[in-house]
Amino acid sequence: MGMQCHKKIMRGYKKPTVSIIGASGYSGAELTKILLSHPSVKLEKLYAHTQAGKKVQDIYPSLDTDAVFEPYNGETDTDIYFLALPHGEALSLVPQLAEAGKLVIDLSGDFRLKSPKEHSKYYKKDKDPDAVLPYALPELFHDEIKQAKAVSNPGCYATSIILGIAPLVKKPLKNASVKSVNCSAISGISGAGRSGKVELSFSEMSGNIRAYKAGKHQHTPEILQALDTDTFTPSFSFMFTPMIAPLVRGIYTVLNIQLEKHIPVSQIEGHFTDFYRSAPFARIRKSMPEIQHVAYTNFCDIHIAESAENGSTVIISAIDNLIKGAAGQAVQNMNIMLGYDETHGLL
Ligand SMILES: NC(=O)c1ccc[n+]([C@@H]2O[C@H](COP(=O)([O-])OP(=O)(O)OC[C@H]3O[C@@H](n4cnc5c(N)ncnc54)[C@H](OP(=O)(O)O)[C@@H]3O)[C@@H](O)[C@H]2O)c1
Repeated sequence: MGMQCHKKIMRGYKKPTVSIIGASGYSGAELTKILLSHPSVKLEKLYAHTQAGKKVQDIYPSLDTDAVFEPYNGETDTDIYFLALPHGEALSLVPQLAEAGKLVIDLSGDFRLKSPKEHSKYYKKDKDPDAVLPYALPELFHDEIKQAKAVSNPGCYATSIILGIAPLVKKPLKNASVKSVNCSAISGISGAGRSGKVELSFSEMSGNIRAYKAGKHQHTPEILQALDTDTFTPSFSFMFTPMIAPLVRGIYTVLNIQLEKHIPVSQIEGHFTDFYRSAPFARIRKSMPEIQHVAYTNFCDIHIAESAENGSTVIISAIDNLIKGAAGQAVQNMNIMLGYDETHGLL
């Protein structure tokens, strides 16, 4: 965004204009819904790939717009771009948009990892060492996001997991640093996007649950990077097993955490409440989180318990993968980048 245009926006002369590239996918549709009713931006272009030429309402009848999906041909005529594309597709687009002075929020994994080696290991694609953007998890990196012109929105599992551990790792309790984290998380099927795969079909998934990529999911390195800043060999052992269940939306995470010494639940609750004091979407709950409590919202609900057997800390966190795990968090980031209240248009 040019300086003059930015000033005009800040003075309230003009609502910033927004486009979504990848608008026909699940995250893109959620972005469309949120941005259509956002009070301080104007949604202009909705770009798609195979669905280009179709009316938005033909695919998503609940969206209140007459817009038609367009093919993206390198246009840079709006102020802000959200990219909700499959991994790999944003790598060339983000630099072009940033070069044209646009604000960019990328939802893919393309720009999350600082290490090209980790990136090619987990995404099976090489990338340039410079292809890194600030990791836009507002509860941890608000100031970096505020300064940035282009950011990388976190993954959905990563959001739920990082928010459930961060207070114990980023600000360890005295003599109680984290020794190990064993984490399992269940995702709704929309986490895999809109394109159909046999193993995700109703007849395969109804009444079923399945673990996959145990110990090797691509969100593991971004979780460790966000918690340990620059190293992939954290000071604690970490194991993550993702699972898929017959829900449309939601991420439900259970973290079993060994601390150096036992800390009572009430003290950990107080620590989490302090840590997230200025984070409007992180809610520390006395009751057990449920997907139904966070579905269609940008909240992350966190509950702290402990094992009666070995005293380990058990943390449960829940989000909506398409909102706090994708579109809602992306809009939260846009709000921060534009200097708006981060909850603007999201409550
Ligand atoms: N789903 C989630 O819960 C979630 C959460 C966090 C992050 N993300 C990330 O957000 C991104 C989008 O995910 P999604 O689940 O919304 O995916 P999706 O439902 O599969 O949608 C993908 C979008 O990208 C477009 N597209 C596909 N191939 C393309 C190509 N070769 N060139 C240009 N456009 C192409 C599709 O257009 P057509 O439909 O017109 O072909 C569609 O608009 C992914 O990187 C994903 O990892 C997803």
